[in-house]
Amino acid sequence: MSEIGLFEAIHTARALRRFKPDPVPDHLITRILDAAIRAPSASNQQNWAFVVVKDPAQRRRVAEIYRKAFAMMSVMYRDRGPAPHQTQAGYARMMGAADHLANHLHEVPVIIIAGLIAPATRHQPPAEAAARVAAARPLISGASIYPAVQNMLLACRALGLGSVLTTIHAYYNDEVRAALELPAGFMTYAMLPIGFPQEGFGHGPVKRRALDEVACLDRWGNRWRG
Ligand SMILES: Cc1cc2nc3c(=O)[nH]c(=O)nc-3n(C[C@H](O)[C@H](O)[C@H](O)COP(=O)(O)O)c2cc1C
Repeated sequence: MSEIGLFEAIHTARALRRFKPDPVPDHLITRILDAAIRAPSASNQQNWAFVVVKDPAQRRRVAEIYRKAFAMMSVMYRDRGPAPHQTQAGYARMMGAADHLANHLHEVPVIIIAGLIAPATRHQPPAEAAARVAAARPLISGASIYPAVQNMLLACRALGLGSVLTTIHAYYNDEVRAALELPAGFMTYAMLPIGFPQEGFGHGPVKRRALDEVACLDRWGNRWRG
């Protein structure tokens, strides 16, 4: 299997939600996990943990939780409609694919749950910093696991596998924790279904808003023209 370059992977790693049921060899899963743990984390704590769910009964449990979360959230997604940059057709395609994933998640050969384990003791910040630390902590926590998650998505792309970052299981984190027998301090942040893409639903160029709409030079409003 020949691997692709980094920028090609970045430009073509679509969110894939339709998979073949074929098993994913363990050595590929190991490479994906190994890519994850090369990521940065706050203070280099590396307090991440990953659960690879392959057992059919466990996949069914996780899929049931995901389906419940999707049913709850899809009402809101449908009310919201397409984002300003999205066409109606593109939005309908995304929602159709998301619906497909929710209905077929138990058939996807591998589901990886990525999370962080809370430290046993937290050093208290100085009193004058406590409010700022508390406000920023959830953001900074996420920043210690999502780089690892993105590494996994890119590794999947490089290995010819498909995946998509999903997070809605977190609305039922208590149930995920029970199903996977996770310790109390384990907070899950992402769930990645992984499999070989179905024919016609593989990777390809990702479409995004124009760079000069989203990047500025020196101050807000001064569009990046580089
Ligand atoms: C924070 C976050 C949460 C997401 N949650 C879900 C999800 O629960 N289910 C899903 O099918 N896709 C989910 N996605 C995938 C996005 O819908 C997808 O990345 C986006 O539509 C771009 O798709 P594209 O790369 O194919 O253009 C999530 C993405 C992010 C960044």
